[in-house]
Amino acid sequence: MRIGVVGLGYVGIVTAVVLADHGNHVIGINRNRQKSEQLAKGIPPLHEPQLKELLNKNLRNFTFSTDYESLKDAEMVFLIVPTPTVKGKIDLSYITEASMKVSEVNKNAILVIKSTVVPGTAKMIAGRTGMVVVSNPEFTKEGSGVDDTAHPNRIIIGASDKQAGDAVESVWAFTKAPVLRTNNENAELIKYASNSFLAAKISFINEIANLCEKLPGCDVEVVAKGMGLDERIAPYFLKAGLGFGGSCFPKDTKALASFAKEKGERMSIVEAAIKVNSNRIDHVIAQAKEAAGRDLSGIRVGVLGATFKEGTDDLRESQALKLIQKLKKMGAAVTVYDPITKAIPIKGVGMAETKEKCIEGSDIVIVATEWKDFSDAGKYAGSRPIIDARRIAGQSGNIRSVGLGK
Ligand code: UDX
Repeated sequence: MRIGVVGLGYVGIVTAVVLADHGNHVIGINRNRQKSEQLAKGIPPLHEPQLKELLNKNLRNFTFSTDYESLKDAEMVFLIVPTPTVKGKIDLSYITEASMKVSEVNKNAILVIKSTVVPGTAKMIAGRTGMVVVSNPEFTKEGSGVDDTAHPNRIIIGASDKQAGDAVESVWAFTKAPVLRTNNENAELIKYASNSFLAAKISFINEIANLCEKLPGCDVEVVAKGMGLDERIAPYFLKAGLGFGGSCFPKDTKALASFAKEKGERMSIVEAAIKVNSNRIDHVIAQAKEAAGRDLSGIRVGVLGATFKEGTDDLRESQALKLIQKLKKMGAAVTVYDPITKAIPIKGVGMAETKEKCIEGSDIVIVATEWKDFSDAGKYAGSRPIIDARRIAGQSGNIRSVGLGK
């Protein structure tokens, strides 16, 4: 099939290479000419396992362009553009703009919305463009995007036009994943409900972690393990820590809460999950103050980790960055080390070349991202306290672990 992919961010580029790897010709559209030129040479714009290899293996199956005209012969066009949350509300301007541009060159293609959008969006886009619109949300995680796209847990297809739904289903048939066929609105809501549920699961275990800290002998890691053995609960997304960040959970929870409010419903669990998550930063700062025995002004704090999770260079909505920002405001002298990121968008913060230097130049260390590289942080700490906000550094000496009762 000739398939267009509009928007070549994390999800767009991963979707494009997986589709090309399964025999489709993919026309990738994005606004940045340089990015298109680099992609055409086999150079991906971001780091993701298998991405470079698959891009190069399938270069002949690609056209990269900034011009929507290239979509005129496409049979299907995936929209994978950003849907940011602005002032707590979803901003659909990229989706509406991209869909109008597609409709100007090719009304006959099936328009597939992969971006996360609130229920009712597909219908609105269908009305504006006069095109057949299918909802096909994605559930890929950064760091395992290619694998998640090629081997998903499920494929959700929302369509009012049966033939168009069948066509999208056939594109993903190689995944052999269970398929749920439904209408556009359910498909759109499934994405929000899934992400919000996972975010709530993380906030839930973080509250249990707070309780564990007040109970000598209790350890949230053991409690989570015991809970996860119940197959109704499952062990995933029960890792207590500094809270969730990234490009999806923070924006999707806020968008769902505000969308529901507009409809006259309160998502009180989702709202609580957001609140618990933002309190994580203060919680860890309180632990650092306790370890220092005073406020943090003038204290040298070494922060290990800047990205929103391990295995990525993505800083979007990173809890580590929020922590660093707050520490700075309190007058702490902050130095950061991250295995991938060598610069952060916060002024007046030092970047250490190695984790050893970061630790050795600090009075207190906070582990803020779950990089495995930090598992031996205790080895270099001497008598300095380490606040292990990600439960990665083990339990020796001066390590104070989130969720561990003393
Ligand atoms: C997420 C969803 O998992 C994916 O389905 C959706 O399509 C996009 O958003 P991603 O943002 O890549 O994927 O990261 P994920 O691995 O889900 O982690 C999100 C955040 O939650 C990270 O900050 C991570 O540190 C945190 N997290 C995750 C926890 O604190 N505890 C956990 O148990 C799991």
